[in-house]
Amino acid sequence: MNRNMKPMAAALAGAVALAVAAPGAATANPCNPCAPKSRNPCAAKNPCAAAAAVDPKLITRPKGTKLYTGNPAELRKEGERLWNDTKLSTNGMSCNTCHQNNGAFNASFAQPYPHKVAMVQEKAGLKTIRMDEMVQICMVVPMAAKPLPWDSRELAALTAYTAQVQKDFQRAAKNPCAAK
Ligand code: HEC
Repeated sequence: MNRNMKPMAAALAGAVALAVAAPGAATANPCNPCAPKSRNPCAAKNPCAAAAAVDPKLITRPKGTKLYTGNPAELRKEGERLWNDTKLSTNGMSCNTCHQNNGAFNASFAQPYPHKVAMVQEKAGLKTIRMDEMVQICMVVPMAAKPLPWDSRELAALTAYTAQVQKDFQRAAKNPCAAK
């Protein structure tokens, strides 16, 4: 038995419990849970550190996929519910745990998709990513879950809501007083 495992696991459980108990604390937390070790003072508690490289095929939309289409307003509303749903992950997190008040986003998020994202390059070796694929890599890496079916209503809903979050992020980025 590796005796270092126990405190590590306890620290991780603590971090997850904290995130779940106080979602508002996520943005106040200086530890970006998925930042590379070099930039992260809390790498030991990093739920993404354990995640091995991601098979790029897992997060690349297959050619010929027919994306689900529906009423945009309804999809956004459902997406907002899913964004806050911890049941989507296997580690007690929701998208909102990390992304509340634009938490964890980098400047790349303000650019139109497809674009380059550091985590995507690091974990999957892909140079650029589309918006629905970005939802999928966050499902697989920080949420420690399976990607959603590509033609599912859930993925369409989360992507529709992500587009709204991106618009708010772009607005905040343009306003230096609102920026973090
Ligand atoms: C444990 C924290 C964590 C959770 C939970 C999480 N993410 Fe992320 N997400 C990150 C980090 C860290 C980044 C920044 C990656 C980068 O810029 O390299 C990010 C980036 C993003 C981006 C923007 C990428 C860009 O720059 O274009 C989107 C969109 C996103 N996440 C969506 C989601 C969705 C949807 C969920 C839920 C299914 C989710 N995230 C759950 C940590 C998380």
